[in-house]
Amino acid sequence: MFKIVENRMIVPNINLMTIEAPLIAGEVQAGQFVILRANDDGERIPLSIADWDRAKGTISVVILTIGGTTSDLAAIQVGKNIPTAVGPLGNPTEIEHFGTVLCIGGCYGIASIYPIARALKEKGNRVIAVMEARSSYLLYWEDKLEKVSDRLIRITRDGTKGYRGHVSKIPGIMQEAREPVDRIIINGCTFLMKRSADASRPYGIKTIVSLNPIMIDGTGMCGVCRVSVGSATKFACVDGPDFDGHEVDWKELLQRRKTYLKEETIVSETSRCEDHALKTRDEAL
Ligand code: FES
Repeated sequence: MFKIVENRMIVPNINLMTIEAPLIAGEVQAGQFVILRANDDGERIPLSIADWDRAKGTISVVILTIGGTTSDLAAIQVGKNIPTAVGPLGNPTEIEHFGTVLCIGGCYGIASIYPIARALKEKGNRVIAVMEARSSYLLYWEDKLEKVSDRLIRITRDGTKGYRGHVSKIPGIMQEAREPVDRIIINGCTFLMKRSADASRPYGIKTIVSLNPIMIDGTGMCGVCRVSVGSATKFACVDGPDFDGHEVDWKELLQRRKTYLKEETIVSETSRCEDHALKTRDEAL
């Protein structure tokens, strides 16, 4: 069992969860992930490890509450346990002295890009961190990212903070500003990574994405996380999660991610009904 020592909403719909998992905390490196279950009957979901404390034996993940399992995880009280935390899984992000690196994070990817930016900075790179959200109230960890980067760029789709628009603008902005970029690393939802990789392609900048397909075992056994990269079939859990964003078959990935959309919708609707039923019952008592 793994004890939850922190679980709080940091911006609407996004929770920061810290878990006691000393073996994982002792081994984890930037770019790796963990598979969690919220309860004994729950499904296994992969989450990037956003931070860790080796001395305390804890790891932190940032959870976007979007379906049944993520809602269950977000609802767990501090002090309770979860039955499963498997990791660290996947390969660490390649950390070398590349020169100038754009570290782009959107949504939950703002958190998972943080340890990558930190490791790149420690290697002597010039790190430009980029965070994107729909609006300023959805930005978080600005202080943390500021500490591990040479420059922090904010982008909001409604223009309430920083640049207005999408992260896909950024490679072009950097090139126009004659600030050469040697590598781009993107964490976030599939659409964000696809758009950003499409935007960097004309500039020929190596662009690494952290893929997030559906997973079950996370150890290369089930094949559920299959992705096509270049002309090869890869398993994101053991061959990734990082891949060259210009080589990924995004259409296939987006299609496969929708496999259980109907079931997820039913779970969400059902839990909403159950919530409503419980609320009605509580009000009646
Ligand atoms: Fe099963 Fe990757 S999650 S092979």
